[in-house]
Amino acid sequence: MILDVDTGIDDSLAILLALKTEHVVVEGITTVFGNTSVEQATRNTLQVIGLADAPYEVPVAKGAAGPLFGEWGGPVVHIHGDNGIGNCELPWPEQEPLDEKAADFIVRKVNENPDALTLVFVGPLTNLAIALAKDPSIASKVKRLVLMGGAVKVPGNVTPVVEANIHSDPEAAHRVFESGMPITMVGLDVTMKTIIGKSHLDRLAAGTASARRPQFIGGILSYYFEAYLKQDGFYGSPLHDPLAVAVAVDPSLVQTEEVYIRIETKGELSYGATIADFRRPPERTNASLCTEVDSERFVEYFMNVLSS
Ligand code: BDR
Ligand code: CA
Repeated sequence: MILDVDTGIDDSLAILLALKTEHVVVEGITTVFGNTSVEQATRNTLQVIGLADAPYEVPVAKGAAGPLFGEWGGPVVHIHGDNGIGNCELPWPEQEPLDEKAADFIVRKVNENPDALTLVFVGPLTNLAIALAKDPSIASKVKRLVLMGGAVKVPGNVTPVVEANIHSDPEAAHRVFESGMPITMVGLDVTMKTIIGKSHLDRLAAGTASARRPQFIGGILSYYFEAYLKQDGFYGSPLHDPLAVAVAVDPSLVQTEEVYIRIETKGELSYGATIADFRRPPERTNASLCTEVDSERFVEYFMNVLSS
């Protein structure tokens, strides 16, 4: 697996889930702007890797600082804090990022491991769009792209119809969806059904006072839950990014429908919308859209891995 993250509170949980799941090998993590700057996301990623105690080295390649066109809108402080990880502090990372850029890393790894790598993207799709521009042949060499992004039959979380990751770079998303790569879209349609609450937080945060991992998970989730309380009126949160990792590991957690998804790149009210064509027969298909999730089984897996 290669993970691409804009770390981010739920990105941190996704990294920990991937690194702590048995039989999953994370070949590398690439970083991108989004919830926070790419600089901060890279630092957070290295710090979270340090917390995971992975039994192998996980290289990190820094990626895009902004979208293909236009400007980045700035950090999402009200959801992810000033530093992207709910203002929690972690020791300065011992590991350095690679000199290689994220897009080059992706191109190289996919070419070295044809048909073997699952890409899990849980931030804006900018690094992948750049990688595809450098080498379009990678589209037919990845096993699958599992992406967290988009909203089809449910409201968006940035505008009435647009989800945050696609909103951050609609042009990149358009290029990825038109690339021919096999895509599984894990959008708000399913992630908003994976809510955890206070009892989960208590279990995840339990541990000895010196155990940094439960302390960190407790800290970031407390910030996240408060943010959702202010914004949506419930003390808890959906597990957006961890669900994408879980779907890559076990696709039977979701039901999918084969559809043609297009990204709106011209609309004023709908810029970044993920529009799925459900007509039958479809003109063509380019994605497996997740429509249902076994959230009980997913949350159980998440809890078992992250509280161990
Ligand atoms: C997505 O946006 C970011 O805030 C989260 O990390 C997640 O990837 C949810 O819309
Ligand atoms: Ca994210």
